[in-house]
Amino acid sequence: MTSSVKDLVLVAGATGGVGQLVVSELLEKGLRVRILTRNPAKAQNMFNNRVEVAVGDIRDPATLPDAMEDITHIICCTGTSAFPSSKWEFDPSPSWIEWIQLLVDRKHRDSRAKNSPAKVDAQGVTNLVAAAPPNLQRFVFVSSCGILRKDQLPWSILNGFGVLDAKEKGEQVIANSGLPYTIIRPGRLIDGPYTSYDLNTLFKAKTDSKLGVVIGKGDKLLGDASRIDVAAACVECLFHPASERQIFELVNQGTRPPVIDWDKLFLQPTVN
Ligand SMILES: NC(=O)c1ccc[n+]([C@@H]2O[C@H](COP(=O)([O-])OP(=O)(O)OC[C@H]3O[C@@H](n4cnc5c(N)ncnc54)[C@H](OP(=O)(O)O)[C@@H]3O)[C@@H](O)[C@H]2O)c1
Repeated sequence: MTSSVKDLVLVAGATGGVGQLVVSELLEKGLRVRILTRNPAKAQNMFNNRVEVAVGDIRDPATLPDAMEDITHIICCTGTSAFPSSKWEFDPSPSWIEWIQLLVDRKHRDSRAKNSPAKVDAQGVTNLVAAAPPNLQRFVFVSSCGILRKDQLPWSILNGFGVLDAKEKGEQVIANSGLPYTIIRPGRLIDGPYTSYDLNTLFKAKTDSKLGVVIGKGDKLLGDASRIDVAAACVECLFHPASERQIFELVNQGTRPPVIDWDKLFLQPTVN
């Protein structure tokens, strides 16, 4: 890709932590951006009319075709919490007694959660892939480290409510779609915007832009991943042909060089 006025990048999950940074990175590179959002008022406020806004929900295929008009690339940063939370959209809200039932009873959980990983990361991503234009130049998906290590700690805990199973399903649908794709699997997200419910959010953990970027293959890496660098990887990969039809892990480690050499990172990822 070379920046062109014809390019129009659809960002799904643009109001999220990584998504906001992806939009800002795309705008900085002079690319046209359309966002797919369930909440146009929130998005309007956030992006101050600098992006086109398409209203849609990846769980509902009927809301997606309008968003796809003239789209050349899709970056999908959608997600929900790994563990049951308000992001799973229980309606009506559970009583504390029902929370116990939700935690232990999978069938009850599946029937009550409207926005669980299975519904967003598996079914929603499947819907987005099905709606993508056949001549799409790249489908970028933010997945997660641990997909190939679901039986090992800490991933077995993270996957307790199926988030890695759902991300894996999303990955498989993308890889089998025939569309050119890049999948980025970050480690545990660090740096703001702090949108997840975890210790990094609680303590506002930061890399202070001091850590280098490590890109891996084969799901071997372990560590934190800056939302800033995950967003940069999602955008940079569009410009690097070596990243097409590839799955990469990303964590932050070591000393940060003055300039991140994305070409080298995508061409020579760490394999062990
Ligand atoms: N937290 C971690 O440590 C970690 C580690 C590895 C990978 N990841 C993954 O990294 C990605 C980005 O994380 P993040 O912290 O930036 O996520 P986030 O802040 O929770 O953002 C999620 C985005 O998805 C959107 N979304 C949720 N359900 C949707 C639906 N049904 N239809 C359309 N959009 C929907 C949200 O929109 P609304 O504003 O409308 O809610 C929001 O824009 C996620 O896929 C996450 O699973 C996270």
